[in-house]
Amino acid sequence: MWSSTLTAYLHYLGFMVAFAALVVEHQLFASELSLKQAWRLVITDSLYGLAAVTVLVTGVLRVMYFGQGTAYYLHSPVFHVKVGLFILVGLLSLYPTISVITWISGLRKQEPPTLTTAQGQRFIWIVRGELLGLALIPLLAAMLARGVALPFLA
Ligand code: HEM
Repeated sequence: MWSSTLTAYLHYLGFMVAFAALVVEHQLFASELSLKQAWRLVITDSLYGLAAVTVLVTGVLRVMYFGQGTAYYLHSPVFHVKVGLFILVGLLSLYPTISVITWISGLRKQEPPTLTTAQGQRFIWIVRGELLGLALIPLLAAMLARGVALPFLA
């Protein structure tokens, strides 16, 4: 019972930290970044990555051991949409993550990143898209837990 409880707790905690990290990234980001801001973005994005992995690992554990049986999830369109959305958010996060990784060598030489307006706009809109995607996933999770079907498939 404790392993199931702990897995569920880490699933929620991972989600909360991932969402909070994205909000912080959104707040920190500016088209002209100081060294300090850029380092903070690197750290926040790493925390986001760690939290997303926690959500994924605990989600897989719930599917395999602690949920309503693997077959239930694998045959559920709601589950497919939930995981699809999670993958989509993961793909979106590649752009900010790759961006901050490319800054690191410059930051080590005390050089802040220089971004074009287009790059800055892309970064911020992608983070907003991730936040929207993440905000929708708990709705699908709640539907999944209660056996509620997708309205357009019912
Ligand atoms: C950001 C991504 C995710 C969020 C926000 C999220 C959120 C949640 C929440 C809030 C619940 C509890 C639902 C309830 O009891 O009302 C839940 C349950 C669950 N999640 Fe996730 N989840 C995410 C990703 C995943 C992934 C990637 C998987 C699988 C690979 C997964 C598998 C599950 C399973 C199996 C349950 C238990 C559902 C049940 O009780 O039947 N989750 N999730």
